Amino acid sequence: MIRAIRGMKDILPPETSRWQWVESQAREVFELYGYREIRLPLLEKTELFARSIGADTDIVAKEMYTFTDRSGDSLTLRPEATAQVLRACLENGLMRRAGVNKLYLIGPMFRYERPQKGRYRQFHQINCEALGSDAPELDAEVILMLVDLLGKLGIKDLRLLINSLGCPECTPDFKSQLQLFLAAQEGWCDDCRRRLVVNPLRVLDCKSQHCQALLVGAPVMEDSLCQDCARHYRRVLSLLEGAGLAYEKNPRLVRGLDYYTRTTFEVTAAGLGAQDAVAGGGRYNGLARELGGPDLPGLGFAIGEDRLLEVLPPEAGLEGRPLTFLAALGDAARERAFLCLQEIRAQGLPAAMDFEGRSLKSQMSLADRLGAAYVVILGDQELASGQALLRHMASSQQDAVPLTELAPALAARAGLKEGS
Ligand code: HAM
Repeated sequence: MIRAIRGMKDILPPETSRWQWVESQAREVFELYGYREIRLPLLEKTELFARSIGADTDIVAKEMYTFTDRSGDSLTLRPEATAQVLRACLENGLMRRAGVNKLYLIGPMFRYERPQKGRYRQFHQINCEALGSDAPELDAEVILMLVDLLGKLGIKDLRLLINSLGCPECTPDFKSQLQLFLAAQEGWCDDCRRRLVVNPLRVLDCKSQHCQALLVGAPVMEDSLCQDCARHYRRVLSLLEGAGLAYEKNPRLVRGLDYYTRTTFEVTAAGLGAQDAVAGGGRYNGLARELGGPDLPGLGFAIGEDRLLEVLPPEAGLEGRPLTFLAALGDAARERAFLCLQEIRAQGLPAAMDFEGRSLKSQMSLADRLGAAYVVILGDQELASGQALLRHMASSQQDAVPLTELAPALAARAGLKEGS
């Protein structure tokens, strides 16, 4: 049997209902903050990611699905969306619109990582990007929106970690200080020995406990921030405090992508194990210029939807509108029931019946397996009297309802207005 690719999973019903619910909640929240959806290709030119994410990041160095297409172009399945959202904005002139350009994108990303709980090779992100302003209010708003959404989804035990990575004015000085500190220590892992030379910030992000222990006493970015960056950071924090949001400053939070400047943040959730970051993001004021565009400050975040689903309350997103099952016996009753199906669906309610001529007993058990809230029993006798038996499965209560009234009666029980 041919199986799915390692690290890529099928998402099956009823789990898909929960994904749909999460995405509909996200769309609702994003609309409140003025975000609109953007849909972009899964494939981009490799150069886009190499230039934006950084050549010596794990993503670009080890994890991209890159191939040469039939015209000889190097293409890559997107490992993240920020670079391509910027590419699309620059290419389509979206940033010329008034005000801050706020966009969201939902879809799959691809990284050739070692699969484990919460880490997949095809995973899904809910991305938001706000372009065109460096105001700290925007940083605070983006973070508040993220936490607002996670709260509405019922995710518990969240921690918001925050840091500032400064700007090209102050980061080089910090990098040199850090490099001096790192060079004075022995015992770095192979990756860190290389990072130490090419990009010392990446050492702060090393997952090895041994390297993390060596970092005790390392210089802290906050102490090297220039005046503007320090002011920006303080303002973001004070806006979050004003909004009553608890955060933890984490001076090691450099994130796995090189485009960040100033604010960076991550949200972790309890119950996820080692891969506990449910969302991450930050500012990338230099990215548009890096991609050949104008100075266009911006920031955003991505939620890892697969991880989010793992910490979603078990019942969330599963309750839909009640299903009615029509159990019909005999050809005439089946024909009438077939009409009833459409009448009930026209009320906005799901309805199902058996097309295979099963016995009443097996139709009842099918209704049960489908999770029907109501069963309508329809035989010759009911047809003759023009009344069907409507059974509420949870309470076993049965009422005779005129066939012509069946659909509105079900709508009334579901608390729907007729036809809604
Ligand atoms: P990231 O931290 O690489 O940031 O990914 C964001 C989130 O995607 C992570 O916190 C995690 O929940 C999820 N994620 C990442 N890799 C995997 C994986 N292999 N399996 C499952 N989930 C994963 C970015 O991608 C940035 N583009 C975020 C951003 C947007 N920054 C500014 N705007």
